[in-house]
Amino acid sequence: MKVAVFGLGYVGTITAAGLASQGNVVVGVDVDEMKVELLGRGISPVVEPGIDELVAETVAAGSLRATRDVADALEAADVSLICVGTPSLMRGDTDLSFVTRVLDEMRDAMGRVRPPSSGVHSVVIRSTVPPGTGATVVAPAFAPDRLPLGWSVETAMCPEFLREGCGVEDFFNPPFVVVGSEERYTRELLAELFGFIDCGVHHVDVPTAEALKYACNAFHAVKITFANEMGRVFSQCAVDSRKVMEILCEDHKLNISPAYLRPGFAFGGSCLPKDLRSLQHLARHMAVDLPLISATTVSNELVVRQVVDRVLATDHRHVCLLGLSFKMNTDDLRESPSLELAERLVGKGLEVRIYDPIVRPDRLVGGNLRHLQSKLAHVNRLLADSPEEALEGAEVVIVASSHPAVLGALARSNAEVVLDTSGRLGDLVERLPGYEGVSW
Ligand SMILES: NC(=O)c1ccc[n+]([C@@H]2O[C@H](COP(=O)([O-])OP(=O)(O)OC[C@H]3O[C@@H](n4cnc5c(N)ncnc54)[C@H](O)[C@@H]3O)[C@@H](O)[C@H]2O)c1
Repeated sequence: MKVAVFGLGYVGTITAAGLASQGNVVVGVDVDEMKVELLGRGISPVVEPGIDELVAETVAAGSLRATRDVADALEAADVSLICVGTPSLMRGDTDLSFVTRVLDEMRDAMGRVRPPSSGVHSVVIRSTVPPGTGATVVAPAFAPDRLPLGWSVETAMCPEFLREGCGVEDFFNPPFVVVGSEERYTRELLAELFGFIDCGVHHVDVPTAEALKYACNAFHAVKITFANEMGRVFSQCAVDSRKVMEILCEDHKLNISPAYLRPGFAFGGSCLPKDLRSLQHLARHMAVDLPLISATTVSNELVVRQVVDRVLATDHRHVCLLGLSFKMNTDDLRESPSLELAERLVGKGLEVRIYDPIVRPDRLVGGNLRHLQSKLAHVNRLLADSPEEALEGAEVVIVASSHPAVLGALARSNAEVVLDTSGRLGDLVERLPGYEGVSW
């Protein structure tokens, strides 16, 4: 393919040289004269292991060159990859001016050059941009009525996942290739362009591709901070924190795994809240700050509060809660966020009926029954014997259980709003007109 790469920084240089090494004809564009001149002489404008050789070889082979002239790069190009910087502004918002400037320059240049033989040119954002940029900035820049005669442009987002310091290695071995585009031609073109990479291609819409890059970077930052907080607190307890983390990473069932990584409802139960509190207390006692761990509790609390606010915003008064324990298949009510939710809704004066397939007074025994009767007498009074009974007259349903009895009754209900905190309703979702996921 004939490829134009805009921005010859870390991402652009590696992308340009990497694609040129795979049989494509690549032209790199930068506003920085020095970078263009260096690359023209076969010298990489950035320092990265392996990039000097890659640039030297591809320039010598005639498959990579650089220019400052946008029209020169666009002449008959099939695809443009935008790799310019997207730094932070003073308030943390993203400076998209480098992106918009490139887009404007490209559109202006299109009037002076031939379009590709296919008739379609693909403009692909490789820079990291906030979700919504494709729809509000990139696609409108190439709206048909703004293009010169003969040009048709499709847009896409294809985030880059390389890390500086091992950028070349990462470019050829990314965790995945993510192609965000609603346009079939460009989707196929990008799958072919990156077809030399031996990993799965995810075809998603543009906002998902944009968001994914943010999610990955946020997750990496959280991982680093978590490890550092564990180090900070445990090193004060004469514990080898690196040993702790080393063994922690061996757990591929719950720790280094997809477990707990699905947007859903708040955590609760008899362990996580209490042990987080204990860890925080321990740290406070030693004058160690754990802002990430502290914020976890605050953030978890926000999940419950947001559901309360959403129920109140409906202006309905009759609420049914299906599922009360802190997770499915247990009758443990200790620190259950669903219980907390029920108590707050009752406190706001709403009529609440509750059904839980396991937490039923007729099935509870011993301590659990006593706990329900003495400490949670107010909740005990709201419990229904069947999901149908709980759903009777309900305008809003909060679903925290996917027990077959619950799903069956839900399918027959005509509640106006169904707020799902379980994320396990399967195909039923399609048949519930008022369905909303709590965080998806
Ligand atoms: N650096 C990384 O490790 C990395 C990894 C993944 C994604 N990203 C993202 O990729 C993007 C680029 O990052 P980078 O580190 O390569 O940036 P960089 O600052 O190293 O390079 C950006 C280049 O764009 C050039 N440029 C600016 N305006 C231009 C224009 N109008 N036309 C042509 N060139 C222009 C600049 O001169 C510069 O050479 C950012 O959005 C970044 O968040 C970076």
